[in-house]
Amino acid sequence: MTKFDKTINRRNTDSLKWNVSENELPMWVADMDFATAPCIVNAIVSKAKRGVFGYEDIPDEWYTAYQNWWKTRHGWEISRDWLCFVTGVVPAITSCVKSLTAVNDGVCVLTPVYDIFFHSIENTGRRVVECPLSYNGKRYSVDFDRLEKVLSQSDVTLLILCNPANPVGRVWSKEELARIGVLCSQNSVAVISDEIHCDLTEPKVSYTPFASASQICADISVTAISASKAFNLAGMQSAAVAIPNELLRKRVVQHLNYDEVAEPNSFACVSTVAAFSQGGEWLDSLRRYLSANRKTVRRFISEQLPKLTLVKQQATYLLWVDCSAVTNDSEKLCEHIRSKTGLYLNCGTKYRGNGRYFIRINAACPRSTLLDGLARLKRGIDSFDR
Ligand SMILES: Cc1ncc(COP(=O)(O)O)c(C=O)c1O
Repeated sequence: MTKFDKTINRRNTDSLKWNVSENELPMWVADMDFATAPCIVNAIVSKAKRGVFGYEDIPDEWYTAYQNWWKTRHGWEISRDWLCFVTGVVPAITSCVKSLTAVNDGVCVLTPVYDIFFHSIENTGRRVVECPLSYNGKRYSVDFDRLEKVLSQSDVTLLILCNPANPVGRVWSKEELARIGVLCSQNSVAVISDEIHCDLTEPKVSYTPFASASQICADISVTAISASKAFNLAGMQSAAVAIPNELLRKRVVQHLNYDEVAEPNSFACVSTVAAFSQGGEWLDSLRRYLSANRKTVRRFISEQLPKLTLVKQQATYLLWVDCSAVTNDSEKLCEHIRSKTGLYLNCGTKYRGNGRYFIRINAACPRSTLLDGLARLKRGIDSFDR
């Protein structure tokens, strides 16, 4: 038994994920059912024991923690002055949409993609311009011809990229990223690269930071990074943006300050510093566990649910399952599964693109919970009447 096999009762703890009925099993929002790394808990406890929680500056260790982690893990050298603290990736994206585009502008997204991008765009009066990814029944890729057409529309001024991609599980290659960079640059389109899932790749898969793919990519981009997905620290409200280009940086950072999303709470920096300076080993064992969970799901689906296909997943613990042989209305399917079995999944429809044929399963849980979820999934699929 490993530390990740231990089940933790999160009911009645104000957990958003677990605020469900007694018979329900939540496998939806991107939140893991594991305790975070002990080094992070220790750092938070020791800070709590100081007992004084006034306003704070960003400490030097916060900068060096990000710089060292990205240099050693991801081969990207981030200068200290490129970095700005933010209270979350989503608040940063919303603020960037406001600072980098005008009302009614089009913002390009490669769908299916993380649904909150649509909120950041539409709630600020901008328009979502979808460039659907190509899907060959096994994996997704960028449709570059279509992307070129979309980016050449004069009112499209920004692309929001998810690298690696939630929910489709792709880790974009350096070549793909560089090509996206060229097309954006040719059309004066800025890029926000959301890299929150970058530390949750398959054990032997590495990711390329968008800004490190080429000088062009560095010049046109804002990269959002955080310890929050890999170490399950969403409640700490701690993230960073890295912006190599000085002009772009000035514009973005000024707006982040207008929006009041650039100041830390008392535990934001301490948890990030502990994660990136001491959490490497813990993270690598987590990645091995998640990899075994992905295999468990793949085996179960091929043996017990032959009508479903698990899309090849290079990163994230969010599994994207093709249900097109069962339905073209994944919302209806997910409602049926939840009411019949209590299993609470995300329907693919909300991620747009071809999402209505898919469901998303959060597999970041102890194996026993995962097996319970899979048994429920089978009952739900077997009893579904399209
Ligand atoms: C791609 C992506 N970006 C951002 C977030 C949320 O980021 P934050 O909690 O830092 O706002 C999530 C959470 O699931 C996500 O999947």
